[in-house]
Amino acid sequence: MDTTKPEHYSQNRSLQQNIGVELLQQYMRWEGGDTVLDAGCGTGEICKYISQQPGVASVVGFDVSPDFISFASQHNSSANMRYHVSDVSDASTIKPEWQGAFSKVVSFAVLHWIQDKVAALKVLHSCLKPGGEMLLWFSTDKSKFCQTVIDMATHHKWKTYLNDFEPNWFPWPSSDFVNGGCSSRLLEECGFEVLSTHSKEFQESFSSKKQWRELMSSVLPHLSYIPLDKHEDFLDDVEKMAKDIHYLTSSDYKVTDKCQFVHARKM
Ligand SMILES: C[S@@+](CC[C@H](N)C(=O)[O-])C[C@H]1O[C@@H](n2cnc3c(N)ncnc32)[C@H](O)[C@@H]1O
Repeated sequence: MDTTKPEHYSQNRSLQQNIGVELLQQYMRWEGGDTVLDAGCGTGEICKYISQQPGVASVVGFDVSPDFISFASQHNSSANMRYHVSDVSDASTIKPEWQGAFSKVVSFAVLHWIQDKVAALKVLHSCLKPGGEMLLWFSTDKSKFCQTVIDMATHHKWKTYLNDFEPNWFPWPSSDFVNGGCSSRLLEECGFEVLSTHSKEFQESFSSKKQWRELMSSVLPHLSYIPLDKHEDFLDDVEKMAKDIHYLTSSDYKVTDKCQFVHARKM
């Protein structure tokens, strides 16, 4: 995704905000003195929301993008919040004082961008206090967005531009969810007890074609390989493909997809 345009991302992340807030309301019970870490906090809107919940003492957000962190610090900050640039899959970038410091950790729409999930989960685990809770959502290989990313990478019309395409997109393998989808090998291997996980269907309506395209252009990894004057043409083909696989409705701009959510506890 393009993390050099934080304002554009911030203005076009209603889908991420709606899913994140719904999950927080459903699964997080805030307790007096909660210290919360948001890994891959992007432009900081979820950090701001969490910082305003009764009982929350402080929130730390970190992201690998310096531009996003700079935007978050300017636009979504308050006295009980701090932002940093760190990489969730590189323990050497994690501040020593974060070890065992947080009662709750969240990471929304991030883990499908991370290749080394074990490294990232170990970092999240190390930042939690014993018994601390973690809430995640991410895409698996079953998501229609994932299918769109893969199908567009091999689209005959765009092949010449995408020869060296590295999607930088690593959906969580759906085969990791075992026991009827109730537990995850990866999470257990990294020291978490899964309290609840399932694939969640969501829908998001966009008011116009332009609004839908703005979201897609903020997250589609192909666009940096396509010349700027061809972006609209590329997005026409994305739209056609998204309609063919029923990711996007053909009459209006409504997206239907699935994401995986996880509520877990540090063992
Ligand atoms: C789709 S955005 C989600 C941002 C935010 N959580 C939200 O709900 O809007 C994905 C975020 O993951 C961040 N990210 C990707 N790889 C990362 C890494 N290795 N460490 C930390 N953040 C990462 C990106 O910079 C981006 O801000």
